[in-house]
Amino acid sequence: MRLSVIGCGYLGAVHAAAMASIGHEVVGIDVDERKIEALSRGEAPFFEPGLPEILSEGIASGRLTFTTAMAAARGAKVHFVGVGTPQRADGHAADLTYVNAAFDGLVPFLTPGDVVAGKSTVPVGTAAGLAPRIESTGAVLVWNPEFLREGFAVKDTIDPDRIVVGVADGQTVDAPGILREVYAPAVAKGTPFIVTDLATAELVKVAANAFLATKISFINAMAEIAEVTGADVTQLADAIGHDARIGRRFLGAGIGFGGGCLPKDIRAFSARAEELGRGESVAFLREVDEINLRRRDRAVQLVLDGLGGQVFEKKVAVLGAAFKPHSDDIRDSPALDVAVRLHGLGAHVVVTDPEAIANARAKHPQLTYEADRDEAIRDADAIILVTEWDKYRRELSPSHASTLTAGRVIVDGRNGLDPTAWRAAGWTYYGMGRP
Ligand code: UDX
Repeated sequence: MRLSVIGCGYLGAVHAAAMASIGHEVVGIDVDERKIEALSRGEAPFFEPGLPEILSEGIASGRLTFTTAMAAARGAKVHFVGVGTPQRADGHAADLTYVNAAFDGLVPFLTPGDVVAGKSTVPVGTAAGLAPRIESTGAVLVWNPEFLREGFAVKDTIDPDRIVVGVADGQTVDAPGILREVYAPAVAKGTPFIVTDLATAELVKVAANAFLATKISFINAMAEIAEVTGADVTQLADAIGHDARIGRRFLGAGIGFGGGCLPKDIRAFSARAEELGRGESVAFLREVDEINLRRRDRAVQLVLDGLGGQVFEKKVAVLGAAFKPHSDDIRDSPALDVAVRLHGLGAHVVVTDPEAIANARAKHPQLTYEADRDEAIRDADAIILVTEWDKYRRELSPSHASTLTAGRVIVDGRNGLDPTAWRAAGWTYYGMGRP
């Protein structure tokens, strides 16, 4: 099928390449010329495992093209809109500038029977407001939220857990049927395909992210209690996680969540609920946000504790800058925030990360960066692990670290290390919510 994808950021670039990889003819459209040039050469503008391969394949096959010209959308059967909805500069609500611009640009090129499938994460009610704008073209609007995780984006797009399609009342075009054809491989293997109304589809996305954020902050709240009682939050998580109703996933206590989605989505959800007069229904999300941010303070405090109360002119090696492993994304990264705070306290901070240094340096040039892990920890007075890349979590042994560092203080901001092994090697180990 011929498809267009408007917006070639994280979501759109992966979506375009993934759709080409399952056999569709796809044009990706974005206003950013440099991004389009890179994508046209088969270069992924960000680190995402598997993306370069499907980009190159798609381009070589002739099924995947990229352009800045919106007119290229003409003739596509389905137009996916996957532009960004960042947090507004003046508050917590979502900024819909790019969504509105995408619809304005697309409308002149729509033809009767086309399906416009919104994928961006938007405040509930947005789609209902957009539908009338395309009505006169004979195209129809559906909302088809995206649940991809960075680092697993290709797999999540081609083989998602579920497909959700929100449709407006009284549509004559069989948009869900057309989307079933688009997602044929996933549909064929029995992936749940949920057809609902526009508002539910929009809400599914924010509700899922709000739930995940809440789950993480719940376990981090338990970590705070563990810290004053001598309990171990990782054992607590294992034990409650055995209850199938609870589940162990997303109960990783540590320095908390970040990235381009969870933080902004829970804030935008709160802002939207306030507008709807239901602020109290999601008032707990403010608490979720606050617990999350407090864990960064805690991690900084543990470094201070480990170094006798002050970090001034002490060398602190920060392992990780990305908001999570398998990503070079530093948006709202708790890891980088901890590094910046330590720097602010006068520490000589050296940050290392396998993928995110270029992005981190562009945002925080005041920090020192070192690509080589061992060089980063050389002569350090303390180490803090903040992004659980295998290179730091599994492959750094305490005996090896001892040959390089000046001090023997390790703060495990992701509870990924074995405290017994580090202590046995003479280190002072601090976990998050562990004795
Ligand atoms: C998230 C959602 O998972 C995805 O469905 C949605 O489409 C976009 O937002 P992503 O931002 O890629 O995806 O990251 P995710 O894997 O959810 O992790 C979010 C943050 O939570 C990371 O900073 C991670 O380190 C943190 N996290 C995750 C924890 O602190 N503890 C955990 O147990 C799990």
